[in-house]
Amino acid sequence: MKNKNFILPDQKAAGMRHHTNEHVKRSDFVMDDKLTTLGEGKTYYVRTYGCQANVRDGETLRGLLNAMGFLPSDSEENADVLIFNTCAVRHAAEQHVLGEIGSLKPLKEKYPNKIFALCGCMSQEEGIVDEVLTRYKQVDIIFGTHNIHRFPELLYRCMVNHERVCEVYSKEGDVIEGMPVERERSYKGFVHIMYGCNKFCTYCIVPYTRGRERSRAKEDIVSEIETLVANGYKEVTLLGQNVNAYGKDLGMKDGFTELLIAIAKTGIGRIRFYSSHPRDYSKTTIEAMRDYPNICPSLHLAVQSGSDEVLKRMNRGYTAKQFMDLVDDMKATVPGMTLTTDIIVGFPGETKEQFEKTLELVDHCKFDLAYTFVYSPREGTPAAKMTDDIPLEEKKERLQILNEHVAKWANENNQTFKDRILEVLCDGTSRKNDDVYSGYSLENKLVNFTGDNVKAGDLVKVKITEIRSYSLNGEKIDE
Ligand code: SAM
Ligand code: SF4
Ligand code: F3S
Repeated sequence: MKNKNFILPDQKAAGMRHHTNEHVKRSDFVMDDKLTTLGEGKTYYVRTYGCQANVRDGETLRGLLNAMGFLPSDSEENADVLIFNTCAVRHAAEQHVLGEIGSLKPLKEKYPNKIFALCGCMSQEEGIVDEVLTRYKQVDIIFGTHNIHRFPELLYRCMVNHERVCEVYSKEGDVIEGMPVERERSYKGFVHIMYGCNKFCTYCIVPYTRGRERSRAKEDIVSEIETLVANGYKEVTLLGQNVNAYGKDLGMKDGFTELLIAIAKTGIGRIRFYSSHPRDYSKTTIEAMRDYPNICPSLHLAVQSGSDEVLKRMNRGYTAKQFMDLVDDMKATVPGMTLTTDIIVGFPGETKEQFEKTLELVDHCKFDLAYTFVYSPREGTPAAKMTDDIPLEEKKERLQILNEHVAKWANENNQTFKDRILEVLCDGTSRKNDDVYSGYSLENKLVNFTGDNVKAGDLVKVKITEIRSYSLNGEKIDE
């Protein structure tokens, strides 16, 4: 049942655009002493969906649980605390999560002391929270993306006071530093440089679920990366929905490039960043990619559509020509740079001709990879009110045609890697075959390779012998 102590999401309030971040403060995380022993003898499991930002948040949740004395569980069924760290970007993924939560009911009936929590972007949606509170009684705790630091306290209320808890803020909170983290890997890691998004692309729910842009202080980020270097980390991926906007809210003029150069000087082996927005791109960032060998020559730059009319309705703020000029300039400045993108098909009102413009753009930009999606209406976003007049069959057909174009260029680009020697950061054995290792090259190519005496975290020289559309095969060579 709902109760008066619940703090419920309010999507309208979440969509308010305010242009200053004066209310956002930097604070240090502190955990109350009473919380540090709460988990003794108990275990947890965190199931994460969605983007890298969520993966990094999942690492913080695990860090918090460890700091409370919980131990990781070997399976979801055995865990005393099971957390669903969710994504709201498309409807189908949400339905999948609701289905998974629904299937937990018998487990809760059998073991009423198990605790199930829902967090991440789905918790920021009014409709979802309402549905979970009413129909999914097995969920004990709901908290949002702005108050992860409050999770230990909420868990205490649930475990000790036996309360059902819902605490979701609709306005972004402070930037909290110093939260414990249990990283998935000991040699490469994600580092948030900013939170939120101010772009309000008309189809996208992220500005409503993650709030406005808030940058972390440059010193805090650099110091985190210096610690990672000291602990043997070889690669960092800087995270933000639009990293090019880094520092604007702090009054920095060319904040992202300044930050990137400061990070390059820490001596970390490889720097990647995800994701960038074409509208805010600064020439100095591209030059930094050219000038610092540890900034990887690979970029993810979402285009979404090749039609000016569709881009306008999406509120992307650039034309197809501006995007293509930017790509040409980047490729000329950073030779050999690889480029990936995101594309949506079937946006409301997209005509066949407009879709064909996307194919033309793909043929011009020759992406190494594109993440392609069928448009999914998201409640509360402006596009959800537009007439979605394209039949699903037509959308699926466009997706297939687009994927064929993308695969053709991916394969063609990969041919240029034949016989080359690439530096690969090994992630361990490949998912499909224990005798084969896999990892990523500087150019962000997935490389599967054979060789002796290799382990996750090793930097390996690999000679490419065989080309696939979305991966390269090769053999380790001795230097
Ligand atoms: N901030 C990133 C950017 O603009 O590059 C994108 C982040 S978003 C989580 C990842 C991708 O999901 C988007 O680039 C877009 O292609 C896709 N996406 C977002 N909303 C969508 C929707 N309503 N339907 C289908 N795809 C969507
Ligand atoms: Fe969504 Fe656009 Fe922000 Fe990316 S830039 S997170 S697509 S609103
Ligand atoms: Fe999904 Fe939220 Fe990321 S909606 S893609 S988890 S920012």
